[in-house]
Amino acid sequence: MKYLSGFGSHHESEAIEGALPVGQNSPQQAPLGLYAEQLSGSSFTAPRSENLRSWLYRLRPSAMHAPFKALEGTLVHTAPDPDAQPTPNRLRWMPIPIPGAAVDFVDGLRTYATNGSARGQHGIGVHGYACSKSMAGRAFYDADGELLIVPQQGALTLRTELGVLEVAPGEIAVIPRGVRFRVEVTGPSRGYVCENYGGPLRLPELGPIGSNGLANPRDFLAPTAAYEDAGATELVAKFAGRLWRASLPHSPLDVVAWHGNYYPYKYDLARFNAMNTVSFDHPDPSIFTVLTSPSDTRGVANVDFVIFPPRWMVAEKTFRPPYFHRNVMSEFMGLIHGAYDAKEGGFVPGGASLHNCMSAHGPDKASYEKAVTAKLEPHYLGGSLAFMFESRYVLEPTAAAMQVSLLDPDYDAAWSGFTKAPLK
Ligand SMILES: [Fe+2]
Repeated sequence: MKYLSGFGSHHESEAIEGALPVGQNSPQQAPLGLYAEQLSGSSFTAPRSENLRSWLYRLRPSAMHAPFKALEGTLVHTAPDPDAQPTPNRLRWMPIPIPGAAVDFVDGLRTYATNGSARGQHGIGVHGYACSKSMAGRAFYDADGELLIVPQQGALTLRTELGVLEVAPGEIAVIPRGVRFRVEVTGPSRGYVCENYGGPLRLPELGPIGSNGLANPRDFLAPTAAYEDAGATELVAKFAGRLWRASLPHSPLDVVAWHGNYYPYKYDLARFNAMNTVSFDHPDPSIFTVLTSPSDTRGVANVDFVIFPPRWMVAEKTFRPPYFHRNVMSEFMGLIHGAYDAKEGGFVPGGASLHNCMSAHGPDKASYEKAVTAKLEPHYLGGSLAFMFESRYVLEPTAAAMQVSLLDPDYDAAWSGFTKAPLK
């Protein structure tokens, strides 16, 4: 499959030669009789470096649809969530079971926690999905935020207005706010979604690291234009915290050509150029930031997407696993595959944990004891891929997430049984 390379680059693509107008955006008559539409992901007046918009040339105006009606029965929650149950307790969940019945991506979405305010355009929603069926005759868009999708099991085909992304576990995809898409699966599928109500995800600054490293811009891939001329579609919208549905007599994925810098993209986490110490101690985990959504306060993220990828550990005279810590930021973690080096057991692929603002956490006793007596040779920490959504705002679990049987009732035991320091 062909992709367009570059983070934030201006791209152009046409599925039919000659579909893109040359030298202007909205000619009196667009080529091939197509309808021109601007999709803006920033205010019109945002500074040039933050201005996001694409021009779409489509078979029918996307405005052509019946009124939306509320879609009930969803397990998706949005901040501020009146039923949320914020807690200082450390939480851990087993993986969401993949339904045996035919459930698609939208119906299989459920919320772990939220923070901030979707209507105020800050904060995030953290969701899991578990599904076994492709969305058929159905498309979805989210007006409340952009969607960072992290597959854990099962590859996804994301058919979007701007083209097709194939995304396997170990890769991620970002669907910008408002972009319509359909999720197709080939079997049981599960993963995580960060719904970012705030500023769009971007690459972090590199500071003294220099111009290379971490996630490099060329490894972010946008789709090429692809359209379908298909029949009746149920368009599901997430808007102001609710799901809505409208009927279309045609597919909304009918963009024949587009140009601009507002588009979905994918990224293979194996391309992440990890940095770490070559002497002693740890850099803070921010060294593993793939993407960041800045807040209004300089250096304080609305959300960071951080990974813990395979890497060499060479630190001398150092406790190598993540150290004990308390953090003003709130941390939601997931595990894509393998075993995380701060927990010997209990945190399994597809599971999740939440360590909120100033809640103490770190290695469990077994991991601690192994690390303090380990022989410190260069060691390859391979076969494991964990990630974190780290936010400046306290993550408030949904009432359902606090009641579900997947919640580990004994998680605090991970930190029990440490003996008192002998003072000698
Ligand atoms: Fe942490």
